[in-house]
Amino acid sequence: MLSLTAMTIAFFVFSSVLKQTLIPLFTTTKKVEHINAGSLHDRLPVNQGQIEMDRLSLSINEMLERLEKAFKAETEAKEQMRRFVADASHELRTPLTSIHGFLEVLLRGASSNPEQLNAALKSMYGESKRLRKLIQDLLLLAQLDQLPPFRKECCFVDELILDMKPQLMLLAGNRKVLFDFPSPLPSDINKDQFKQVVLNLFSNAVQHTNPTRGVIQVIGKVNEKELSLTIQDNGHGIPQEHLAHLFERFYKADASRSRAYGGAGLGLAISASIIELHGGKIRVKSKLNVGTAFEIVLPLT
Ligand SMILES: Nc1ncnc2c1ncn2[C@@H]1O[C@H](COP(=O)(O)OP(=O)(O)OP(=O)(O)O)[C@@H](O)[C@H]1O
Ligand SMILES: [Mg+2]
Repeated sequence: MLSLTAMTIAFFVFSSVLKQTLIPLFTTTKKVEHINAGSLHDRLPVNQGQIEMDRLSLSINEMLERLEKAFKAETEAKEQMRRFVADASHELRTPLTSIHGFLEVLLRGASSNPEQLNAALKSMYGESKRLRKLIQDLLLLAQLDQLPPFRKECCFVDELILDMKPQLMLLAGNRKVLFDFPSPLPSDINKDQFKQVVLNLFSNAVQHTNPTRGVIQVIGKVNEKELSLTIQDNGHGIPQEHLAHLFERFYKADASRSRAYGGAGLGLAISASIIELHGGKIRVKSKLNVGTAFEIVLPLT
């Protein structure tokens, strides 16, 4: 028969083992019960003195970490998609509303007045051009997102830009345009897409410079590692707080000014996607009332 002392000792040992095992288990289970989609940042207690429990908690914590990241990414993607659809609808609605308005006026009798008819047709033509460009840009973005097989070819960027010179000079009007290519710029690029980037950056420089005092410089350089192409203007510049967002879809640094030109804010987003697909980078530097410079940097192959 066990003595009372032995029984007491056995009880204390047993209850202490029980405490060590059950209390951490109880705390952990309680915590797990409270974790749900809204509290994925919660973590289970570790270092509770029970190796197996602590290991289990650590594994669950790692899983929670991954779940939390995936959940956050999905929420952000949904928000981005919502914003994209809202922005695209807004941009599509504006020219459509305008065309609709003109048609209403014409149907109410203005079509019998040749002057009014001509003005309305001209405006509707302008709006339909804007719609067409917007839809083309949206389609191009969708194509770039799907990472299509990318056809690159070896060419000289300086020659490619000089081939575009008549088109660029036409866009520039009376602005001064300077081309500076001290040495040939060989590169492996998709010619059509690269031309689109040059056109986007050059059109922006034109839109944001004075029609007669504007100066636009196209400067190409190459070193042993990379090629750099800068399109620099002496326009009104961009406030610093906008610079980080310029390459976002539909972003306009100055909505009222851009309205006058009817741009949707997609040109830079498209350019950035194209340059990214080439493994390069595009950066911007700007100073208010001094000018803006966009630099494309491509790795040499
Ligand atoms: N050279 C520049 N000088 C001053 N602001 C610029 C210049 N380039 C771009 N921006 C600003 O960045 C914004 C985004 O340019 P982006 O080319 O993406 O769109 P957009 O020119 O407004 O429209 P889109 O190119 O789709 O016709 C412009 O609305 C403008 O506010
Ligand atoms: Mg643009």
